[in-house]
Amino acid sequence: PSWFTSTLLARRLLALSTTGIASTIFPSPLPSTSHAPPSVAGHSISLTEYLADCDATLPNPPTEEGNPTFLALRVATTFRNTASGSNISLSLDWWSHINDTAPVFPGFPLSQAGLPRATLFGYIEPFETPVPEETESALKECYLAKHPDAEVWLPGREGAPHASFWARLVVTQVYWIGGFGGLQQIGWLNVTEWKGVSETGSAVDIGDGSGRGWGDVRLPGERE
Ligand SMILES: *[C@@H]1O[C@H](CO)[C@@H](O)[C@H](O)[C@H]1NC(C)=O
Ligand SMILES: *[C@@H]1O[C@H](CO)[C@@H](O)[C@H](O)[C@H]1NC(C)=O
Ligand SMILES: *[C@@H]1O[C@H](CO)[C@@H](O)[C@H](O)[C@H]1NC(C)=O
Repeated sequence: PSWFTSTLLARRLLALSTTGIASTIFPSPLPSTSHAPPSVAGHSISLTEYLADCDATLPNPPTEEGNPTFLALRVATTFRNTASGSNISLSLDWWSHINDTAPVFPGFPLSQAGLPRATLFGYIEPFETPVPEETESALKECYLAKHPDAEVWLPGREGAPHASFWARLVVTQVYWIGGFGGLQQIGWLNVTEWKGVSETGSAVDIGDGSGRGWGDVRLPGERE
């Protein structure tokens, strides 16, 4: 596939993902309130987090730009680190779909290494509070459709085990591994194109001018 088609595949991977592995950096030195061992100061930590691609459902600009939404817990290490100034990388993959895929060559074994993955680079931007009611209800509807259990820790919910807030990962770079190098693109995506496509299309000055969106491509083994 071309680089633009790869970008559409990457945006589709984000749209269909419900979890990802978030990497952040512990502050150095650690704050005195931290329970982490002093030796992890400045180290990265990778933790699986819930996410949802909610941009397109929000009533106000910013419009759809492929910035995933988190319902972030204040006590969570990922969001403590970002609150202390860490950037974030978020790794997504399609590996759980291995048994729905076909071999890349006849006779070749099914291979997770041949399936797409992407890493989003950027920073966490909390939604400005108070979040307007219309935005809040759009966030809830989109996020809870993917994570019904998250109802229990919605912001401001009485009796919730932990305080939470809505935040987005503002994407600044994207690294793509489409699969095996001979067949798929591997490298950095064009972020203007990443931000310039929606499910239903893209502007003529984006990518190959075909006007395609991420709704026009399918990941390996996807059922229609
Ligand atoms: C976060 O990333 C930006 C580039 O997007 C960089 O300028 C900044 O220094 C980074 N911040 C930290 C704390 O590494
Ligand atoms: C795929 O199928 C194999 C063989 O039945 C099984 O061992 C494996 O756990 C399955 N993998 C996934 C991700 O479902
Ligand atoms: C990124 O994509 C935009 C829109 O398709 C294009 O105009 C621009 O030249 C691209 N940038 C690079 C560095 O290829």
